[in-house]
Amino acid sequence: MSRVFSGIQPTGNLHLGNYLGAIRNWVRMQDSHDCVFCVVDLHAITVAQDPKALRAGIREMTAALIASGLDPDRCVLFNQSAVRVHAELAWILMCTARMGWLGRMTQFKEKSGKDREGASVGLFTYPVLQAADILAYKATHVPVGEDQKQHLELARDIALKFNTDTGTELFPLPEPVIEGPATRVMSLRDGSAKMSKSDPSDAARINLTDSADAIAQKIKRAKTDPEPLPSDRAGLAGRPEAANLVGLMAALSGQSVEAVLAEWGGQGFGAFKPALADAMVAALAPITARFNALKDDHATLDAILARGAEKARAIAEPVLIEAQRAVGFRD
Ligand code: AMP
Ligand code: TRP
Repeated sequence: MSRVFSGIQPTGNLHLGNYLGAIRNWVRMQDSHDCVFCVVDLHAITVAQDPKALRAGIREMTAALIASGLDPDRCVLFNQSAVRVHAELAWILMCTARMGWLGRMTQFKEKSGKDREGASVGLFTYPVLQAADILAYKATHVPVGEDQKQHLELARDIALKFNTDTGTELFPLPEPVIEGPATRVMSLRDGSAKMSKSDPSDAARINLTDSADAIAQKIKRAKTDPEPLPSDRAGLAGRPEAANLVGLMAALSGQSVEAVLAEWGGQGFGAFKPALADAMVAALAPITARFNALKDDHATLDAILARGAEKARAIAEPVLIEAQRAVGFRD
């Protein structure tokens, strides 16, 4: 039995990093696996959110995922807070996870920054909720971008300790699926920072809702170095901006990095950038059009989420009951 689970926060726009790093793999896996995809609103409130913006963000992310190719008839698509199992199982697993394990999480260190004492407790236990998301469905495969690797290792550690402590084999150990030439898309303004929803500069990222003009402008202004493109992979060493743009071209055109370099080696960014922008517009324009057609249809989006939550409950509630039995809450 294999089941896929993954999640995305409903804060800010879906960007090219999300799409190439994760969502494209979600769309692909719908054909071969039993898939559960979740808009993780419980995770979103680990940092301050405006309630109206969060409410709108849940529907917008749902529309963006469907526009990207998720088919609610072929996968389970819902928002996390609609299924209580996530929060209940997270409590049980918080008593399995150790303080020391969570203290090592780099995302917590980054997000809490200099003000650790002022961070919410939820931000600290965030990865335990993520483990509960995955384990509530006994998921075996978790398609994510590179930045989630550490959280996935923690989910495996939690599953293993729970099984050992309770003398059961309740939870399978979930495998991360980190695949494709763009598992870590970098900022267009700084090749050492990842492309992120929370970057204050909109020029640093390509949003799935950007117009063709906006994409062309952002790529034109993207940071590069003055050297021409190298003709092999070794020539990308120490050139993070060049490596990022080449990786994007490979991911968008369905070619390997080697093939892109064989074609473009020796040429300057002045020639490469317009071709990259064209490839990006070709990939994103149909998604943008579908998103715009769907985003204001609240009735349709709400009905999709309600049906998804029902299907999710049918899988997760029996697993919670097994976990409750394993720890001694019930016979
Ligand atoms: P988030 O936007 O943090 O909720 O992430 C949703 C999914 O997109 C996760 O699987 C992330 O690993 C992935 N992701 C986010 N940013 C990037 C990026 N810059 N490059 C590749 N994958 C990313
Ligand atoms: N933490 C993930 C991110 O920021 C989102 C997420 C929440 C997730 N629960 C998950 C990803 C379970 C995979 C599986 O990207």
